Amino acid sequence: MKIAVIGTGVMGRGWITQCAMAGHEVHCTDADPDMLAGTVGACVELAEKTARRFKLAEPGLAAAVGGRIRTHTERAAFIAAASACDVLLEVIFEDLQLKRRVLGELLPQLPEKVIFWSNTSSLDINQLAEAGGRPERSIITHGFNPVPMMPGVEVVPGAKTSAETVEFTRRALLEMKKAPFLAPNIPGFWVNRLLVPMALDAVRLLEQGKIRVEDGDVGLNTSLGHPQGVFKLHDFISAPTMLRVALEMLQASSDPRLYPPLILVRMVKNGEFGAATGKGFYDWSDPRKPTPRDLSHYVVGSAEQMTAALK
Ligand SMILES: NC(=O)c1ccc[n+]([C@@H]2O[C@H](COP(=O)([O-])OP(=O)(O)OC[C@H]3O[C@@H](n4cnc5c(N)ncnc54)[C@H](O)[C@@H]3O)[C@@H](O)[C@H]2O)c1
Repeated sequence: MKIAVIGTGVMGRGWITQCAMAGHEVHCTDADPDMLAGTVGACVELAEKTARRFKLAEPGLAAAVGGRIRTHTERAAFIAAASACDVLLEVIFEDLQLKRRVLGELLPQLPEKVIFWSNTSSLDINQLAEAGGRPERSIITHGFNPVPMMPGVEVVPGAKTSAETVEFTRRALLEMKKAPFLAPNIPGFWVNRLLVPMALDAVRLLEQGKIRVEDGDVGLNTSLGHPQGVFKLHDFISAPTMLRVALEMLQASSDPRLYPPLILVRMVKNGEFGAATGKGFYDWSDPRKPTPRDLSHYVVGSAEQMTAALK
Protein backbone atom coordinates (compact mmCIF):
# COMPACT_ATOMS: atom_id res chain seq x y z
CA MET A 1 0.00 0.00 0.00
CA LYS A 2 1.06 3.60 -0.56
CA ILE A 3 -0.04 6.26 1.89
CA ALA A 4 0.22 10.05 1.91
CA VAL A 5 0.34 11.85 5.28
CA ILE A 6 -0.29 15.56 5.85
CA GLY A 7 1.00 16.73 9.25
CA THR A 8 4.22 15.32 10.68
CA GLY A 9 3.88 16.24 14.36
CA VAL A 10 3.61 13.75 17.22
CA MET A 11 0.84 11.65 15.67
CA GLY A 12 1.83 12.08 12.03
CA ARG A 13 5.26 10.69 12.86
CA GLY A 14 3.67 7.81 14.74
CA TRP A 15 1.55 6.86 11.73
CA ILE A 16 4.40 7.32 9.27
CA THR A 17 6.55 4.98 11.39
CA GLN A 18 3.73 2.46 11.68
CA CYS A 19 3.12 2.44 7.91
CA ALA A 20 6.84 2.23 7.05
CA MET A 21 7.33 -0.62 9.55
CA ALA A 22 4.46 -2.44 7.83
CA GLY A 23 6.36 -2.17 4.53
CA HIS A 24 4.30 0.66 3.01
CA GLU A 25 5.70 3.56 1.03
CA VAL A 26 4.84 6.84 2.78
CA HIS A 27 4.79 10.36 1.32
CA CYS A 28 4.49 13.21 3.78
CA THR A 29 4.32 16.96 4.10
CA ASP A 30 3.93 19.59 6.83
CA ALA A 31 3.34 23.35 6.84
CA ASP A 32 6.37 23.74 9.13
CA PRO A 33 9.59 22.99 7.18
CA ASP A 34 11.57 22.29 10.38
CA MET A 35 9.00 19.73 11.45
CA LEU A 36 9.21 18.05 8.07
CA ALA A 37 13.03 18.09 8.07
CA GLY A 38 13.14 16.22 11.37
CA THR A 39 10.58 13.61 10.36
CA VAL A 40 12.65 10.78 8.86
CA GLY A 41 15.17 10.81 11.74
CA ALA A 42 12.39 10.84 14.35
CA CYS A 43 10.53 7.99 12.62
CA VAL A 44 13.67 5.84 12.39
CA GLU A 45 14.27 6.45 16.11
CA LEU A 46 10.65 5.55 16.94
CA ALA A 47 10.88 2.37 14.82
CA GLU A 48 14.02 1.28 16.69
CA LYS A 49 12.37 2.02 20.04
CA THR A 50 9.31 0.02 19.00
CA ALA A 51 11.48 -2.91 17.88
CA ARG A 52 13.28 -2.86 21.25
CA ARG A 53 9.99 -2.65 23.18
CA PHE A 54 8.46 -5.63 21.36
CA LYS A 55 11.77 -7.51 21.08
CA LEU A 56 11.53 -7.60 17.28
CA ALA A 57 14.79 -8.80 15.76
CA GLU A 58 14.76 -6.89 12.49
CA PRO A 59 18.21 -6.37 11.04
CA GLY A 60 18.38 -3.34 8.75
CA LEU A 61 15.18 -1.89 10.24
CA ALA A 62 16.47 1.72 10.35
CA ALA A 63 17.53 1.72 6.69
CA ALA A 64 14.32 -0.01 5.59
CA VAL A 65 12.05 2.41 7.48
CA GLY A 66 14.06 5.49 6.43
CA GLY A 67 14.06 4.30 2.82
CA ARG A 68 10.26 4.02 2.67
CA ILE A 69 9.58 7.62 3.77
CA ARG A 70 9.65 10.51 1.31
CA THR A 71 9.19 14.10 2.50
CA HIS A 72 7.81 16.81 0.20
CA THR A 73 8.35 20.50 0.93
CA GLU A 74 6.53 21.64 -2.23
CA ARG A 75 2.75 21.24 -2.16
CA ALA A 76 2.62 20.40 -5.90
CA ALA A 77 5.11 17.54 -5.45
CA PHE A 78 3.11 16.23 -2.48
CA ILE A 79 -0.12 16.32 -4.51
CA ALA A 80 1.56 14.43 -7.37
CA ALA A 81 2.84 11.76 -4.96
CA ALA A 82 -0.47 11.56 -3.05
CA SER A 83 -2.34 11.08 -6.34
CA ALA A 84 -0.62 7.69 -6.71
CA CYS A 85 -1.45 6.65 -3.12
CA ASP A 86 -4.28 4.46 -1.82
CA VAL A 87 -4.93 6.64 1.23
CA LEU A 88 -4.48 10.25 2.29
CA LEU A 89 -4.18 10.51 6.08
CA GLU A 90 -4.74 13.91 7.70
CA VAL A 91 -2.90 14.51 10.99
CA ILE A 92 -2.80 18.32 11.35
CA PHE A 93 -3.83 20.49 14.34
CA GLU A 94 -7.16 19.70 16.02
CA ASP A 95 -9.01 22.70 14.59
CA LEU A 96 -12.21 22.06 12.66
CA GLN A 97 -12.07 25.19 10.52
CA LEU A 98 -8.39 24.65 9.65
CA LYS A 99 -8.96 21.00 8.75
CA ARG A 100 -11.99 21.88 6.62
CA ARG A 101 -10.01 24.57 4.77
CA VAL A 102 -7.02 22.29 4.12
CA LEU A 103 -9.18 19.33 3.01
CA GLY A 104 -11.34 21.55 0.79
CA GLU A 105 -8.22 22.68 -1.01
CA LEU A 106 -6.33 19.37 -1.12
CA LEU A 107 -8.79 16.51 -1.69
CA PRO A 108 -10.42 17.83 -4.90
CA GLN A 109 -6.93 17.69 -6.45
CA LEU A 110 -6.57 13.96 -5.78
CA PRO A 111 -8.12 11.14 -7.86
CA GLU A 112 -11.50 9.93 -6.61
CA LYS A 113 -10.05 6.48 -5.75
CA VAL A 114 -7.88 7.89 -2.93
CA ILE A 115 -9.48 7.09 0.43
CA PHE A 116 -9.46 9.83 3.06
CA TRP A 117 -8.52 8.97 6.64
CA SER A 118 -8.44 11.52 9.48
CA ASN A 119 -6.68 11.01 12.81
CA THR A 120 -8.84 13.62 14.54
CA SER A 121 -9.37 12.97 18.27
CA SER A 122 -12.84 14.42 18.52
CA LEU A 123 -14.25 16.12 15.40
CA ASP A 124 -17.36 15.29 13.38
CA ILE A 125 -16.48 13.03 10.42
CA ASN A 126 -19.44 14.38 8.43
CA GLN A 127 -18.08 17.93 8.52
CA LEU A 128 -14.60 16.79 7.45
CA ALA A 129 -16.00 14.46 4.78
CA GLU A 130 -18.22 17.14 3.23
CA ALA A 131 -15.33 19.63 3.18
CA GLY A 132 -13.19 17.15 1.23
CA GLY A 133 -15.99 16.38 -1.24
CA ARG A 134 -15.75 12.56 -1.15
CA PRO A 135 -17.94 11.53 1.79
CA GLU A 136 -18.34 7.89 0.62
CA ARG A 137 -14.56 7.49 0.80
CA SER A 138 -13.97 9.35 4.07
CA ILE A 139 -13.55 7.83 7.53
CA ILE A 140 -11.86 8.54 10.85
CA THR A 141 -8.96 6.31 11.93
CA HIS A 142 -8.09 7.67 15.35
CA GLY A 143 -4.82 6.14 16.54
CA PHE A 144 -3.21 6.59 19.94
CA ASN A 145 0.22 7.83 20.98
CA PRO A 146 2.75 6.34 20.30
CA VAL A 147 1.02 4.78 17.29
CA PRO A 148 3.42 1.85 16.67
CA MET A 149 3.14 0.78 20.31
CA MET A 150 -0.59 1.31 20.87
CA PRO A 151 -2.64 -1.14 18.80
CA GLY A 152 -6.07 0.48 19.22
CA VAL A 153 -7.57 2.54 16.39
CA GLU A 154 -11.04 4.06 16.65
CA VAL A 155 -12.79 3.72 13.30
CA VAL A 156 -15.62 6.23 12.89
CA PRO A 157 -17.66 6.10 9.68
CA GLY A 158 -19.78 9.10 8.69
CA ALA A 159 -23.37 9.20 7.48
CA LYS A 160 -22.31 8.62 3.86
CA THR A 161 -19.22 6.44 4.32
CA SER A 162 -19.61 3.37 2.08
CA ALA A 163 -19.44 -0.19 3.36
CA GLU A 164 -16.46 -0.72 0.99
CA THR A 165 -14.53 2.11 2.66
CA VAL A 166 -15.21 0.66 6.12
CA GLU A 167 -14.09 -2.80 4.99
CA PHE A 168 -10.98 -1.50 3.17
CA THR A 169 -10.02 0.46 6.29
CA ARG A 170 -10.58 -2.43 8.66
CA ARG A 171 -8.48 -4.77 6.50
CA ALA A 172 -5.69 -2.23 5.93
CA LEU A 173 -5.43 -1.62 9.68
CA LEU A 174 -5.47 -5.34 10.53
CA GLU A 175 -2.71 -5.91 7.97
CA MET A 176 -0.67 -3.28 9.83
CA LYS A 177 -1.31 -5.31 13.02
CA LYS A 178 -3.57 -2.61 14.48
CA ALA A 179 -6.69 -3.37 16.52
CA PRO A 180 -9.50 -1.36 14.87
CA PHE A 181 -12.82 -0.93 16.68
CA LEU A 182 -15.97 0.93 15.67
CA ALA A 183 -16.76 4.06 17.65
CA PRO A 184 -19.68 6.51 17.50
CA ASN A 185 -19.53 9.85 15.67
CA ILE A 186 -20.03 11.98 18.81
CA PRO A 187 -17.56 14.60 20.13
CA GLY A 188 -14.53 12.63 21.39
CA PHE A 189 -15.91 9.35 19.94
CA TRP A 190 -15.59 6.61 22.61
CA VAL A 191 -12.15 6.96 24.21
CA ASN A 192 -11.87 10.76 24.44
CA ARG A 193 -15.53 11.13 25.32
CA LEU A 194 -14.59 9.34 28.57
CA LEU A 195 -10.95 10.43 28.93
CA VAL A 196 -11.01 14.19 28.26
CA PRO A 197 -13.54 15.27 30.92
CA MET A 198 -11.67 13.08 33.43
CA ALA A 199 -8.27 14.51 32.47
CA LEU A 200 -9.57 18.09 32.70
CA ASP A 201 -11.13 17.34 36.09
CA ALA A 202 -7.77 16.07 37.31
CA VAL A 203 -6.15 19.36 36.28
CA ARG A 204 -8.93 21.34 37.98
CA LEU A 205 -8.34 19.43 41.23
CA LEU A 206 -4.61 20.15 40.95
CA GLU A 207 -5.40 23.81 40.31
CA GLN A 208 -7.50 23.89 43.48
CA GLY A 209 -4.62 22.41 45.47
CA LYS A 210 -6.58 19.22 46.24
CA ILE A 211 -4.15 16.72 44.72
CA ARG A 212 -0.45 16.60 43.87
CA VAL A 213 0.90 15.35 40.54
CA GLU A 214 2.77 12.43 42.11
CA ASP A 215 -0.15 11.26 44.29
CA GLY A 216 -2.60 11.61 41.42
CA ASP A 217 -0.58 9.41 39.07
CA VAL A 218 0.49 6.84 41.66
CA GLY A 219 -3.15 6.57 42.76
CA LEU A 220 -4.49 5.80 39.28
CA ASN A 221 -1.59 3.50 38.52
CA THR A 222 -1.81 1.41 41.65
CA SER A 223 -5.59 1.39 41.97
CA LEU A 224 -6.86 1.20 38.39
CA GLY A 225 -3.77 -0.08 36.61
CA HIS A 226 -3.45 3.03 34.41
CA PRO A 227 0.17 2.69 33.25
CA GLN A 228 0.95 6.43 33.26
CA GLY A 229 -1.67 8.05 35.42
CA VAL A 230 -3.41 11.15 34.18
CA PHE A 231 -0.73 13.87 34.46
CA LYS A 232 1.96 11.90 32.62
CA LEU A 233 -0.61 11.14 29.95
CA HIS A 234 -1.29 14.89 29.65
CA ASP A 235 2.44 15.44 29.14
CA PHE A 236 2.55 12.87 26.33
CA ILE A 237 -0.56 14.22 24.63
CA SER A 238 0.89 17.78 25.01
CA ALA A 239 -0.84 20.79 26.55
CA PRO A 240 -1.69 22.52 23.22
CA THR A 241 -3.31 19.38 21.80
CA MET A 242 -5.29 18.80 25.00
CA LEU A 243 -6.43 22.44 24.92
CA ARG A 244 -7.50 22.23 21.26
CA VAL A 245 -9.35 18.94 21.82
CA ALA A 246 -11.13 20.29 24.91
CA LEU A 247 -12.22 23.47 23.10
CA GLU A 248 -13.44 21.63 20.01
CA MET A 249 -15.39 19.15 22.16
CA LEU A 250 -16.79 22.00 24.27
CA GLN A 251 -18.00 23.85 21.18
CA ALA A 252 -19.55 20.72 19.72
CA SER A 253 -21.26 19.51 22.90
CA SER A 254 -21.63 22.52 25.27
CA ASP A 255 -20.69 20.11 28.07
CA PRO A 256 -19.34 22.37 30.89
CA ARG A 257 -16.93 19.64 32.03
CA LEU A 258 -14.97 20.40 28.87
CA TYR A 259 -14.27 24.03 29.77
CA PRO A 260 -10.45 24.11 29.88
CA PRO A 261 -8.88 24.86 33.26
CA LEU A 262 -6.81 28.06 33.39
CA ILE A 263 -3.66 26.16 34.36
CA LEU A 264 -3.75 24.36 31.01
CA VAL A 265 -4.02 27.65 29.12
CA ARG A 266 -1.16 29.11 31.17
CA MET A 267 1.04 26.11 30.48
CA VAL A 268 0.43 26.51 26.75
CA LYS A 269 1.21 30.22 26.98
CA ASN A 270 4.43 29.51 28.89
CA GLY A 271 5.61 26.87 26.41
CA GLU A 272 5.26 24.11 29.02
CA PHE A 273 3.85 21.62 26.53
CA GLY A 274 4.88 18.38 28.26
CA ALA A 275 7.37 15.64 27.39
CA ALA A 276 8.24 17.12 23.98
CA THR A 277 9.40 20.48 25.38
CA GLY A 278 10.94 19.09 28.58
CA LYS A 279 8.43 20.68 30.98
CA GLY A 280 4.78 20.02 31.72
CA PHE A 281 3.31 18.50 34.84
CA TYR A 282 6.69 16.74 35.04
CA ASP A 283 10.26 17.85 34.41
CA TRP A 284 11.45 15.68 31.51
CA SER A 285 15.17 16.65 31.60
CA ASP A 286 15.83 12.92 32.01
CA PRO A 287 13.08 11.33 29.87
CA ARG A 288 13.58 7.96 31.60
CA LYS A 289 13.02 9.49 35.01
CA PRO A 290 10.49 12.33 34.83
CA THR A 291 10.12 14.20 38.13
CA PRO A 292 6.88 15.89 39.23
CA ARG A 293 7.23 19.68 39.16
CA ASP A 294 6.29 22.02 41.96
CA LEU A 295 3.24 23.66 40.41
CA SER A 296 2.15 25.56 43.53
CA HIS A 297 2.54 28.87 41.64
CA TYR A 298 -0.34 27.74 39.43
CA VAL A 299 -2.64 26.81 42.31
CA VAL A 300 -5.66 29.04 42.77
CA GLY A 301 -5.67 29.98 46.44
CA SER A 302 -8.22 31.63 48.70
CA ALA A 303 -9.31 35.23 48.00
CA GLU A 304 -7.02 36.37 50.85
CA GLN A 305 -3.99 34.49 49.49
CA MET A 306 -4.57 35.78 45.99
CA THR A 307 -5.01 39.42 46.99
CA ALA A 308 -1.94 39.14 49.25
CA ALA A 309 0.11 37.82 46.31
CA LEU A 310 -0.91 40.86 44.25
CA LYS A 311 0.60 43.35 46.72
N1 LIG B 1 -1.18 14.07 20.68
C1 LIG B 1 -1.94 13.01 20.87
O1 LIG B 1 -1.74 12.26 21.83
C2 LIG B 1 -3.05 12.68 19.90
C3 LIG B 1 -3.63 11.41 19.99
C4 LIG B 1 -4.61 11.05 19.06
C5 LIG B 1 -5.02 11.94 18.09
N2 LIG B 1 -4.44 13.18 18.02
C6 LIG B 1 -4.89 14.07 16.92
O2 LIG B 1 -3.91 14.03 15.88
C7 LIG B 1 -3.89 15.31 15.21
C8 LIG B 1 -2.50 15.89 15.28
O3 LIG B 1 -2.12 16.03 16.64
P1 LIG B 1 -0.59 16.05 17.09
O4 LIG B 1 -0.57 15.77 18.53
O5 LIG B 1 0.24 15.24 16.15
O6 LIG B 1 -0.27 17.60 16.87
P2 LIG B 1 1.14 18.31 16.58
O7 LIG B 1 0.96 19.72 16.96
O8 LIG B 1 2.25 17.51 17.18
O9 LIG B 1 1.29 18.18 14.97
C9 LIG B 1 0.43 18.80 14.05
C10 LIG B 1 1.23 19.11 12.81
O10 LIG B 1 0.35 19.62 11.80
C11 LIG B 1 1.07 20.59 11.07
N3 LIG B 1 0.13 21.45 10.36
C12 LIG B 1 -0.72 22.37 10.88
N4 LIG B 1 -1.40 22.97 9.88
C13 LIG B 1 -0.98 22.39 8.73
C14 LIG B 1 -1.32 22.59 7.34
N5 LIG B 1 -2.22 23.51 6.97
N6 LIG B 1 -0.69 21.84 6.41
C15 LIG B 1 0.25 20.93 6.79
N7 LIG B 1 0.61 20.72 8.07
C16 LIG B 1 0.00 21.43 9.02
C17 LIG B 1 1.88 21.33 12.13
O11 LIG B 1 2.95 22.04 11.56
C18 LIG B 1 2.32 20.17 13.04
O12 LIG B 1 3.58 19.66 12.66
C19 LIG B 1 -4.97 16.16 15.87
O13 LIG B 1 -6.17 16.03 15.16
C20 LIG B 1 -5.06 15.53 17.26
O14 LIG B 1 -6.29 15.78 17.88
C21 LIG B 1 -3.46 13.56 18.90
